[in-house]
Amino acid sequence: MKTNEVLDCIKRRRSIRTYTNRQISEEDLGLILEAATYAPNGMHLETWHFTAIQNTKKLRQLNSLIKKAFSKSDDPHLQERSKNEAYCCYYHASTLIIVSNEPLNWWASMDCACAIENMFLAANSLGIGSCWINQLGTTCDDSEVRSFITSLGVPKNHKVYGCVALGYADSTLIPKKKNVKTTTITIIK
Ligand SMILES: Cc1cc2nc3c(=O)[nH]c(=O)nc-3n(C[C@H](O)[C@H](O)[C@H](O)COP(=O)(O)O)c2cc1C
Repeated sequence: MKTNEVLDCIKRRRSIRTYTNRQISEEDLGLILEAATYAPNGMHLETWHFTAIQNTKKLRQLNSLIKKAFSKSDDPHLQERSKNEAYCCYYHASTLIIVSNEPLNWWASMDCACAIENMFLAANSLGIGSCWINQLGTTCDDSEVRSFITSLGVPKNHKVYGCVALGYADSTLIPKKKNVKTTTITIIK
């Protein structure tokens, strides 16, 4: 079957949820962030912001505040997660990129999704694992979470639309086979 480097990269990418402690290099982080900024975005307004955190202490603090926000929720599943000592929403990845945007921009979530996929593919092409992390999307307006992410550099008028965990996959893991539904495509000729 016909293929190329880009198609192979798209097919090879999988969500990684177990990482080693090894940090990604500054050069690779720069390339991944640059890929984000090259994503298509509505009217090319570029209202998005990418806040990369590589500081383990700050990542742990963020996870604790997200869990605290969960504890205030009525959802029993989130309540349970808040009490679970082992729960780490970013899977202890060495780098986390917060992707935020102005909620008044109609394209905000779509722009962020395009940027996130660009980062996933760029990371994959560099041998770096990644995963979409959603928990900050629902908790970014909790007062304690908000003041912490503001201190990290997330613009005050932004909502978080997703986060990108980045790191090296545990090499002992065998990636699960991806089963793709065959009923999701229609071609009319
Ligand atoms: C909008 C969106 C939100 C997601 N949120 C999470 C998340 O919070 N945590 C997580 O582990 N995976 C998350 N994922 C990853 C999906 O579970 C994953 O992409 C899906 O199971 C397909 O697997 P694959 O990425 O390995 O192909 C999210 C993916 C998307 C597109």
